Amino acid sequence: MPTVNEIREHFLSNAPWVDREKTVDTVKAGEPSKPVGTVAVGWMATVYDLRRAAELGCDLFVTHEPTFWEHGAPEERNRSARGGLEKTRLIEESGIAVLRCHDTWDLWPGIGIRDSWARGLGLGELVLESPDRWHAMYAIEETTLRAFAGRVLSKVQAIGADSVQVMGEASMKVSRPSVGVGCGGPGIDMIEAGSDCLICCFDGASYWSQRERFVECGAGVITVEHGTSEHWGLEALAGYVRQTWPELTVHYLDLYPRPWTVGCPDSSDSRRG
Ligand SMILES: [Fe+2]
Repeated sequence: MPTVNEIREHFLSNAPWVDREKTVDTVKAGEPSKPVGTVAVGWMATVYDLRRAAELGCDLFVTHEPTFWEHGAPEERNRSARGGLEKTRLIEESGIAVLRCHDTWDLWPGIGIRDSWARGLGLGELVLESPDRWHAMYAIEETTLRAFAGRVLSKVQAIGADSVQVMGEASMKVSRPSVGVGCGGPGIDMIEAGSDCLICCFDGASYWSQRERFVECGAGVITVEHGTSEHWGLEALAGYVRQTWPELTVHYLDLYPRPWTVGCPDSSDSRRG
C-alpha cells in the first residue's frame, strides 16, 4: 500500500511545472507516512465530503481546493474558527489524512483540470493554448451566443448546476470559445488570439476587473461556479488514482454545495438571438 507521502511524491515528480518550495500541494492533516488502503477524491474537502469519507472508512482524502478556506499552505488560520472546528474534530476522530492535489492536477496533460473542463463541455478541436497552458481556445461550428450558452448549460446541468450566466449580445456569432484552468482564466490573451466567447467562473473573473472588460473588448462571456468548471477534472483525478494504484479502494465524492438560482424568464427575452 502506498503512503500518503508516496502518493504526493508521485504527483510532484510527474509535474515539473510545479515549484516544490511554493506549492500548496501539501499534506494538510494526518500522518504523511501512513499507509493508504481506501481513498476519497473530491473537488473540495467540504464537511459533507469529509463525513462521507469517514463513513466509508477512508484513510486519505485527496482534495483539489482548500479544506480550511485559505489557498496558501498550511491553511492554519481557520482550523479552530467557526466552520473549521468541526472539520478539525472530524479529521482527528476519523484519522483521515488530507492531501491537496491542486498545482499538479491543474495542468496535468490530457486529463487535468483544463483539458477535462473542455472535454466535459464538448468543445472538440483545440486551436491554440497560451504559452503557460493556462488558457486554451477551441473551434466550434458558428452559432449564436445564446445557443452556445444553452449548450453549455445542457452540459453543466448533468453535474448539478441549474444555470449559467451570460454577458454580451445574445445574437452575436461565436465560433472560438476559450476556457482556462477552472477559475484561472481565460483572459484578454485569448481575445487577442481570436476568441469570441470566454467561459469563466465567478471566483476567477470578477465583474469590473475582468468580465465587463471582456464584453467591451467584443467577447461574449459565460460564467459558471468554480466547482462546476473543475468537476470533470476531479472525476478524472479519481480515475487516475484508481488506475495508478489498483490496490486502492477509491471513492469519488462531490458533495460540495451547488448554488441554485431564481430567474425571471422574461428578463432575457429581449436579448434572445
Ligand atoms: Fe480551482
